[in-house]
Amino acid sequence: MRSVRASQVGRVECFSTTDALMAGAAERFVSVARRAIRESRRFMVALAGGSTPRRLYELLAMPAYARRVDWSRTHLFWGDERCVAPDDPASNYRLTREALLGRVPVAEANVHRIHGEDPPARAAAAYEQELREAFTTREGPPSRAPGCRFDLVLLGMGSNGHTASLFPGLAAVRERERWVVAEHVAEVSMWRVTLTPPVLNAAGHVVFLVSGAEKAAMLQRVLEGPSEPHVLPAQAIAPSDGVLAWLVDAPAAARLQAER
Ligand code: 6PG
Repeated sequence: MRSVRASQVGRVECFSTTDALMAGAAERFVSVARRAIRESRRFMVALAGGSTPRRLYELLAMPAYARRVDWSRTHLFWGDERCVAPDDPASNYRLTREALLGRVPVAEANVHRIHGEDPPARAAAAYEQELREAFTTREGPPSRAPGCRFDLVLLGMGSNGHTASLFPGLAAVRERERWVVAEHVAEVSMWRVTLTPPVLNAAGHVVFLVSGAEKAAMLQRVLEGPSEPHVLPAQAIAPSDGVLAWLVDAPAAARLQAER
């Protein structure tokens, strides 16, 4: 069962269970992928980190979904990475490798991981160069032309309102020039590399995946509270001419105002 509502920060689709949420997200992934490949012969997607999307990646690896995606034309990027080795349990790349990469025929050359094992500033600069080459935009803001931006960005939301590695009060949330930055995040006692609002907001589709009762209070603040993106970085995500969708399960949506 699913209900849909509009909010000040995009369309909210509430699913009765977490499994239904992940199936809905998998269908959205397949749909955007097929359209992107139809229109520009490739699918450029930035994957979310954290624990929520693991089930989605496992679903996408199952034949019911995997056979509907042309993985040879799919380019996988990450919205952020922890500055750790790729085989570290905290690595977002490792999570995706375990749940998806080893199970679908995506070409190694199309897997664009952030090199968390390198010095953070170097990893960020290298990733921005890789992104700019992929989007044929050597300098300046991202283009919105198909093929020159992410077709899909998947994001999670922390209980403190962060998304990707855009954390409350930190500089990355305010970045308006660079597409990728590195920042030490005291809140999690580690360096992070993250995409910034300019490149995230140029995407064709941005989909937040939010699951669990522990996110309910923050989801209500982000979707229905005052706009304070520097305090609640998830509010900094507002695609300029793309689609913004919040795919949430009932426990996470529990504090949202009853549909009018
Ligand atoms: C990360 C993610 C981060 C994540 C949220 C939610 O690297 O941690 O990019 O933004 O999406 O913290 O994390 P959970 O899905 O684990 O709740």
